[in-house]
Amino acid sequence: MSVKNICCIGAGYVGGPTMAMIAKKCPHINVTVVDLNEARIAAWNDEDVSNIPVYEPGLSDVVAEARGRNLFFSTDVNSAIDIAEVIFISVNTPTKMYGAGKGQAADLKWIELCARQIASVAKNDKIIVEKSTLPVRTASAIKDILTHTGSGVSFQILSNPEFLAEGTAVEDLDSPDRVLIGGDDTPEGQEALRKLVDIYANWVPRDRILTTSVWSSELSKLTANAFLAQRVSSINALSEICEKTEANIAEVARAIGTDSRIGSKFLKSSVGFGGSCFQKDILNLVYIAKSYGLNEVANYWEQVIIMNDHQKTRFASKIVSTLYNTVNGKKIALLGWAFKKDTNDTRESPAIHVADHLLFEQANLAVYDPKVSEEQVYNDLDYLKTRERAENRANLQVYLDPYEACKGAHAIAVLTEWDEFKTYDWKSIYNNMLKPATVFDGRNVLDIAELKAIGFQVRSIGSTL
Ligand code: UDX
Ligand code: UDX
Ligand code: ADP
Repeated sequence: MSVKNICCIGAGYVGGPTMAMIAKKCPHINVTVVDLNEARIAAWNDEDVSNIPVYEPGLSDVVAEARGRNLFFSTDVNSAIDIAEVIFISVNTPTKMYGAGKGQAADLKWIELCARQIASVAKNDKIIVEKSTLPVRTASAIKDILTHTGSGVSFQILSNPEFLAEGTAVEDLDSPDRVLIGGDDTPEGQEALRKLVDIYANWVPRDRILTTSVWSSELSKLTANAFLAQRVSSINALSEICEKTEANIAEVARAIGTDSRIGSKFLKSSVGFGGSCFQKDILNLVYIAKSYGLNEVANYWEQVIIMNDHQKTRFASKIVSTLYNTVNGKKIALLGWAFKKDTNDTRESPAIHVADHLLFEQANLAVYDPKVSEEQVYNDLDYLKTRERAENRANLQVYLDPYEACKGAHAIAVLTEWDEFKTYDWKSIYNNMLKPATVFDGRNVLDIAELKAIGFQVRSIGSTL
C-alpha cells in the first residue's frame, strides 16, 4: 500500500523546504510539518507567503502552491505522529556545549525527545526517517528507544540525509544529484525502504535514488560535508601562499579545476566557510574517530576546521594591520552577514567571527545585509559571550541602507557574496568615505580594476592585485 500521510518533526531550514517540495510533487500525499516553536509555525502559516521564516529563492511559490491543499504546518505534534505512516525527524542537532564531547559531539537531546514522543503516541506501525545530519549509529539509539515501548508497534528506521545547500534549496530539491536512503537488510527494512523510494520517484529518476545500509547512509552525509569543507580549506590554505607570492588564487583554481579528476566546483577561496553543517559535521567525524582511538584520522579532519578558523582570523587581522595597526574608534562597514548569499541564515557565518575580532580591537562597526535582521546580528554576537550585550549594541550598528553604512567609514569588508554588492555606485560610496578608503573583499566578488580606478585601496583573498 502506498503512503498517504507523512509528518515531519522540525520546521526549520531542512524540514520546511523539503516537505514543501514533497507536497508539491506528490499531491496525493498529505504532508504535515510540526514544530514546538509556535512563532515559527505561525510564520509558515502567514497569509502573506513572503513572510515564511526561511528565505530561499522560489520557496514561497512552492509553499503557496501546496499549503492548505496537502501541506500543513502545525504545533500539534501528537496528532501528526498519530496519523502519519512515515515520520521524518528533522530537528536541530547542534554541537554539544556541555559534558562529555563538549565542543565536538552532536547533542542528540532533541532527537531522543522526538523518539520518546513517537514511542508514547504511536498506535500503529511507522517508518521513521532520519533527516537531520546525525552521527553514525544514531539510528540504533532511536531504534532502542522505540522498540522498548512494549506497545507492540513495529518501527522501521531509515536514514535519508538531505544534501540541499541553502540559497539553492528549491533547485537542489527539485533536481537532486542523488537521493540517498539507508535501510536495514531485513524484509521489513527493505519494504520500508521501497516505500520511501516510491515517494521520491514521483519526481526523481530512479537511477538517482541510491539505497545503502543505514550506517553507510549516515556516514556518507558526514563524509560529503567533510569533503566539501576540505576543498574550501584547501583552496584557502593556498590563498595565503598566493598572497605572499605573485600567484593568483583564481588562476590557480581555474587551472586545477579543469582536471576532471579534481573538478571546478567548490574552489572559491573566501573569508572562510560557515553554515550549520560543515563545522558541526566535521567535529562530529573527529569525535567519532577519537572515540574509536583513531587519532590520525581525527587529526586529519580537524585540520580542516583549524584552517578555516585561521582564514577568518587572518582576514580580520589583515584589516587591522592595513589600517595602521589600529582600528580603535574607526568606522568599518561590513557588507553581508549571512554565511552565503541568497539565505537569511547566519549560523557559523564567518562575519560573526570577523566582527567579534574587530570589536575586540575596539572598532566601530556598521553592518548591512539585505536579508538579515538587526535582532539576528545582535543575537549572533551575544551568543559568543565575548562581551556585555550593551557593548555589542554600542559599538555595532545595523543599517538598512548600504550607502549609509559606508558613509564616513575608513574601510569596507565584504563578507557575503550578495549579487547586489556588484551593482552599487562605488564612486559615490568612495566620495563619502575617509581616505585612504580601503575595500577588503572577503569573497572576491567586486571588480578590482574598477575600484582601483575610482581611488580605492583593495585587498582581496589570494592575490597581491
Ligand atoms: C600523478 C598525477 O595524476 C599526474 O597528473 C601528474 O602529472 C603526476 O602524478 P601518477 O603518479 O603517474 O600521476 O599516477 P596517479 O594515477 O595519479 O596515481 C598516483 C598514486 O595514487 C598511485 O599510487 C595510485 O595507485 C594512487 N591512487 C590513485 C589511489 O590510491 N586511489 C585513487 O583513487 C587514485
Ligand atoms: C552544505 C552542503 O553543500 C549541502 O550539501 C549540505 O546538505 C549542507 O551543507 P550549505 O552549508 O547550505 O550546504 O552551503 P554551501 O554552498 O555548501 O556553502 C557552505 C559554506 O562554504 C558557505 O559559507 C560558502 O560561502 C562557503 N564556500 C563554498 C566557499 O567559501 N567556497 C566555495 O567554493 C564554496
Ligand atoms: P535545520 O537547519 O536542521 O532544519 P533548524 O534549527 O532550522 O535546523 O530547525 C529545527 C527545528 O526543529 C526548530 O524549528 C526546532 O524548534 C524544532 N524542534 C526541535 N526539537 C523538536 C521537538 N522535539 N519537537 C518538535 N520540533 C522540534
